[in-house]
Amino acid sequence: MNSATNTLPVTLPTDMDLVMRVMPMPSDANGNGDIFGGWIMAQVDLAGSVLPNRIAKGRIATVAVNQFIFKQPVSMGDLLSLYARVERIGRTSVTVHVEVYAERNPAKLEVVKVTEASLTYVAIDDEGKPRPLPPQD
Ligand SMILES: CC(C)(COP(=O)(O)OP(=O)(O)OC[C@H]1O[C@@H](n2cnc3c(N)ncnc32)[C@H](O)[C@@H]1OP(=O)(O)O)[C@@H](O)C(=O)NCCC(=O)NCCS
Repeated sequence: MNSATNTLPVTLPTDMDLVMRVMPMPSDANGNGDIFGGWIMAQVDLAGSVLPNRIAKGRIATVAVNQFIFKQPVSMGDLLSLYARVERIGRTSVTVHVEVYAERNPAKLEVVKVTEASLTYVAIDDEGKPRPLPPQD
């Protein structure tokens, strides 16, 4: 983290991994310039899969979105940072908590938590059936 991000006027999570950063494009917005919830859900699903992918060391599938909260709207020009933390490792599944922060208005920098969610991923085999997670290093 460089000195510019150290001065952000918000407490970013220190117990979570920064797994993805993305900026929405005009095609992701409605007529008012707000970003579609479905686009944000897709980004959260992608970001949420990063840590389970490492744990499963192979193919995974999203089995459940246990919770999804849109706290604040996302607007064109926002830079989104997606953080994830593993909440539970089961026999075949991994549950993660994801938080999304939007960095906006560079002239008077503002960082707000816009979304949080909890998702579960299952390790699957070549037939798409659940498989036990491999031993962790
Ligand atoms: C993922 C899939 C292979 C799981 O198969 P399944 O027969 O339902 O799995 P099981 O009942 O054996 O459960 C497997 C694991 O998922 C967990 N799980 C199942 N349903 C769950 C739910 N609704 N919420 C949280 N965890 C769930 C189980 O607890 C189990 O975890 P564990 O082994 O760590 O204890 C199957 O449901 C599937 O293919 N779903 C479609 C996935 C997909 O296409 N996702 C993309 C979005 S369209």
